[in-house]
Amino acid sequence: MKHPASATPTSEAARNPFTLLEYDPIKLLNKPQKVASMFEVRDGTRDYDPLFPLSVELHLTDVCNLRCGWCTDLELRRNLASLPLATIESLFDEFAQHQVGVTIEGGGEPTVYKHFAEVVALAARHKLDIGLITNGIRPLASFANQFKWIRISMDASSAEEYVAEKGVQRYEKVRANIATLGALPDKRFLLGVGYVMTRRNTGRLLEFIEEMDAAGVDYIYLRPVEEMPDLSPDLAMLYELKSLWETTRASQRRIKVLMNLDDRIQKDNEGLPCIAHALSCVIQADGNVAMCEKRRHDPVVFGNINTQRFTDIWRGALRKDVSRRLLDPCAQRGCEVCRITKFNRYFVRLGELYTRNFI
Ligand SMILES: C[S@@+](CC[C@H](N)C(=O)[O-])C[C@H]1O[C@@H](n2cnc3c(N)ncnc32)[C@H](O)[C@@H]1O
Ligand code: SF4
Ligand code: SF4
Repeated sequence: MKHPASATPTSEAARNPFTLLEYDPIKLLNKPQKVASMFEVRDGTRDYDPLFPLSVELHLTDVCNLRCGWCTDLELRRNLASLPLATIESLFDEFAQHQVGVTIEGGGEPTVYKHFAEVVALAARHKLDIGLITNGIRPLASFANQFKWIRISMDASSAEEYVAEKGVQRYEKVRANIATLGALPDKRFLLGVGYVMTRRNTGRLLEFIEEMDAAGVDYIYLRPVEEMPDLSPDLAMLYELKSLWETTRASQRRIKVLMNLDDRIQKDNEGLPCIAHALSCVIQADGNVAMCEKRRHDPVVFGNINTQRFTDIWRGALRKDVSRRLLDPCAQRGCEVCRITKFNRYFVRLGELYTRNFI
C-alpha cells in the first residue's frame, strides 16, 4: 500500500516540512549572539561562553524496556536513576527564560519514566520547545503534537533483525506506533526514524526506507553503530547504498534520508580545539550535568542539578577552567565519534580564513 504522498508528489499532502537544513551547522546563523560569544572564546578574548546552551539532552530515567547490545548508555543504565519531577520543573523555569530546546531521551527509555505525561505538560506550560528520542514501544499519539520533533529508534527492518539488535521482540508494535503517528490528521511535529547500522541490519534497508516513506515518516537518520568495532558495517558498502538511494529512488519519495557517514567516523575531534561544547550538555537521570557524552577518556561533570541551579552550574568556575583547557587540541585525544565535531570544524576553519573581510 502506498502513502498518498508518494502517489501525488506535488500535492499538499506530499509537502515534507523536514529539510536537510535541520541538521546543518548553518542553522546557527539563527543564533548570532551565541555564535559571537563562542567565537570570542576561540579568539581568546573571552575565557568561556556564559550564554545558555542552545539545547540540552535531558535523561528522565536510566530505566529501559529494551536490551540493545550496543547501547551507548550501558554504563548509565546501571545507575537505574530517575530525575525528581521537582528538579525538572525548576530546570524548565530556568530554560524557559533562555529559550533552551530540550531533547528528552536516554539514559534509558524516556517514555517509561513514571511522570512522562507531567513532563510533557510542564514543558507546554513553560512554552518550551521539546524533542523526543524514543524506542517507540509506548504509544505517543496523545502527546505527539506537544513535541517539535519525535525520532523513533527502529534500528531494524524486520522482526528477526529487531530481536538481534534490541534483545526483545517489539518490531510489529513499534511499526504500528510509527504508522499511527505518520497518519495523524493534524500532525504538527517532524516524525523521524533513527537507524543504527550494524553488520546485521542493512540487507533490506532501501525497502525499509520506502516502507517508512509510505508510513508518513518525514526523515530517517542513519548512522553506523559507534564504539562497537566488531559490529561496524563496511563503510564502502554504506556509501554504495547511499548513492543507490540517491540515484534511483530519492526523487520519487517524500521521505528525506540523512546518512552523513563522514561526520560519524572521525574520532579525537579531528585534532581540533573543542569550542562548540557550549552548544549543548547532557543532564543525566542522577542529576549530573555532563559537558558531553563522548569524552569517555576524561568525562567532565560540571555539577548536579538536584542541589544547584543550572545557572550556577553553567557559569561556575569548573566550566571556565574546562573551556580554557579544551582549546588545546591534545585534550580531545581520546574523544569518540562526536556530533559536536562538525561544529568545531566550522568554528576553527572560519577563524583561519584569509578572506574574512571579503565576500
Ligand atoms: C541511548 S538511546 C536513548 C533513547 C531511547 N531509549 C532510544 O533508544 O531511542 C539514544 C539514541 O542513541 C542511539 N544509540 C545507542 N547506542 C548507540 C551506538 N552504540 N551507536 C550509535 N547510536 C547509538 C539509539 O539508537 C538512540 O537513537
Ligand atoms: S532502547 Fe535506547 S536506552 Fe534502551 S537499550 Fe536501546 S538504545 Fe539503550
Ligand atoms: S569533541 Fe570531545 S570534548 Fe568536545 S563535545 Fe565532543 S566528546 Fe566532548
